[in-house]
Amino acid sequence: MSGGDKLDFEIRPNPAPVAAAERAALLANPGFGRIFTDHMVTIRYAEEKGWYDARVEARAAIPMDPAAAVLHYAQEIFEGLKAYHAADGGVTMFRPEANAARFVASANRMAMPALPEQAFLDSLRHLVEIDREWIPTADGGSLYLRPFMFASEAFLGVRPAKEFLYVVIASPVGAYFTGGVQPVTVWISPNYTRAAPGGTGAAKCGGNYANSLVAKAEAVAHGCDDVVFLDAAERRTIDEMSGMNVFIVLDDGSLVTPPLTGTILAGITRESVLMLAGRDGRTVTERPFSLDEWRDGVASGRVREAFACGTAAVITPIGRVRTPDGDFTIGDGGPGEVTMGLRQQLIDIQRGRAEDPFGWVHRLR
Ligand code: COI
Repeated sequence: MSGGDKLDFEIRPNPAPVAAAERAALLANPGFGRIFTDHMVTIRYAEEKGWYDARVEARAAIPMDPAAAVLHYAQEIFEGLKAYHAADGGVTMFRPEANAARFVASANRMAMPALPEQAFLDSLRHLVEIDREWIPTADGGSLYLRPFMFASEAFLGVRPAKEFLYVVIASPVGAYFTGGVQPVTVWISPNYTRAAPGGTGAAKCGGNYANSLVAKAEAVAHGCDDVVFLDAAERRTIDEMSGMNVFIVLDDGSLVTPPLTGTILAGITRESVLMLAGRDGRTVTERPFSLDEWRDGVASGRVREAFACGTAAVITPIGRVRTPDGDFTIGDGGPGEVTMGLRQQLIDIQRGRAEDPFGWVHRLR
């Protein structure tokens, strides 16, 4: 694309799509991120040409030079958002403009070219339109869209690459955690941190998630579902989980969540929760929240609920916290009322069952 922000996509339908009966069987129990649709979008970038060669084509392996910079220095970013069957029979996406803007912010942090937001939105629309039969109809199901971009230039010097590939794939999904919306147990990692001040914590880059894996494995080894990282400087306040933001609900119904100081991801679900809770008249505070305050607050009754939130996890209650110094249970360990109320409100808006007060729902047809 030289010039404007609009790209023309060449549409090449998959000549051998999955048969309807097989697709229906796959959609019956999709799990999370295990199955994929018939198509993908690709757009190329070269420094001297800009964005070019936008296509929708059969999903296939991507040939790559073994010297491609991403394989060596991890110059890669991604996004995650969902498409839904709306209650009125239409097809919608939730806040794709916010993902487009965050993709640009991540690209800036990782010294990558910015994909124009209109091209990002058009790429999603094309993929959802051609693969719309893959959107699960079951309650709780959705089509998870995964746009990503990586350095494809074959070059081993350490500098920003000059060639990139942008791709979008789609995966029909159910619940992210295997227990569905049952409360999860989280592990407070004593050994690992996620991101330091000035680092890449606010960028949605693969490296942040690679970094979380050993800590998540440690969490699983301790019988937990996921890890909560403490801040890298003092190991005192909560940052975020392996791929989700954290909220605490206090006894006056107010909400606390860690502030966006550059070490955590500016979650779109996080921001949606802040807006929904504010509309409900709840006080919402973005401030550092320490593990001590969490533990003491649970003991005194000041902390009533906690939850994780993200596109994949939606809103998932946190029932129990495990630390090397002992465990504590939040409330009675079950899903909290405020948590589940916010979850329901969010899902009802996403699925077109409730009024959309902030204009979040992006209608495709
Ligand atoms: C998402 O919630 O979309 C993410 O990117 C996080 C990942 C754990 C799936």
